[in-house]
Amino acid sequence: METRILRINDIDKDCGALLEAAKLIQAGELVAFPTETVYGLGANALNSGAVRKIFEAKGRPGDNPLIVHISKLQDVDRLVRELPLIATVLMERFWPGPLTLILKKSSVVPDIVTAGLDTVAIRMPRHPVALKFIEYSGVPIAAPSANRSGHTSPTTAQHVLDDLDGRIPLILDGGKCEVGLESTVLDLTADVPTILRPGGVTYEMLTQLLGEVEIDSGALKPLEGRLAKSPGMKYVHYAPRAQVVVVRGQIDEMIKKINELTQEYMEQGVTVGILATCETKDHYKEGKVLVLGSRTQPAIMASNLFSALRQFDDMGVNIVLAEWIEPKDEGLAIMNRMLRAAAFRVVDAESSTVGGGFRG
Ligand code: TXA
Ligand code: MG
Repeated sequence: METRILRINDIDKDCGALLEAAKLIQAGELVAFPTETVYGLGANALNSGAVRKIFEAKGRPGDNPLIVHISKLQDVDRLVRELPLIATVLMERFWPGPLTLILKKSSVVPDIVTAGLDTVAIRMPRHPVALKFIEYSGVPIAAPSANRSGHTSPTTAQHVLDDLDGRIPLILDGGKCEVGLESTVLDLTADVPTILRPGGVTYEMLTQLLGEVEIDSGALKPLEGRLAKSPGMKYVHYAPRAQVVVVRGQIDEMIKKINELTQEYMEQGVTVGILATCETKDHYKEGKVLVLGSRTQPAIMASNLFSALRQFDDMGVNIVLAEWIEPKDEGLAIMNRMLRAAAFRVVDAESSTVGGGFRG
């Protein structure tokens, strides 16, 4: 099938394109669309056959449930069995925005959407194109990130095309995603609200509003046999083709270690990429350096992470040496994604061990 891209510059002037996208949804087809986090691959959430096409197009395992996207607060009512007060408080404060809430599902949500779970993930995105597209479609939209399963999530329409060309009929192009990392997933069915996946609505923002909030232990650690509460977290996700190694330590030590490793890998004929920050970039004389942003602005670093990983692939880099970022504020989401991209390979800058095997 041919994949068309329709650019939306103005949601009023370009409403023809949005109506066309809505028509495809009503006909049980897939449409990729921009959100403020990453691009989503949408289908009518109430149509099992349409949702099945999402799993096929992405090559996504059937046990990984999808997020249902809505455009109005009241749309949540028929999707859930109960709406705790805390959910209402969070919705009023953070919706539309990058916060997904896990709630007890109602019977209108097909099992294929929730991978058979008794709960459903719901969010209201704040990108104007997403909101209009959902509204025009007239149904809740089930949508994972619009990448092939296991790849880095797309933050531009071109990224979506790179992964799904020929597999879906339409991509709505709304420019570069502002947040750049997927939404925070917050489980409200646990005793204490629990962050299953950190994102743009940070732990600090949530505790300020709610008091006690937990972070699932899988956020910065491999699961090692424990059951994933958020099934998506068990997969080696967000992986570029290049092997990623995270280097941790004090800034000076980290720079020194990355320079040593770069030297060593280059001697082996390996093309090295360095994922640096404004504060450190000038200390790297070799390797292909990409800058995420300033360490004082973690939200900006977060918005550049996925495109930097894709860019390293385009540059033919074999190994990426990534600087450790302080896991607070948006830094927690950055490290959650970076450690998964690295399959949890972390080198301690202070230790004397160098390198380790390159996967080749
Ligand atoms: O920002 C985002 O959340 C993007 C945009 C498109 O909205 N979507 C996205 O979807 O990242 P996806 O499918 O790539 O990630 C959804 C995550 C997965 O880790 C999945 O396991 C988890 O949410 N999830 C979905 N339903 C769940 C449920 N009922 N219980 C626990 N985790 C759930
Ligand atoms: Mg995804």
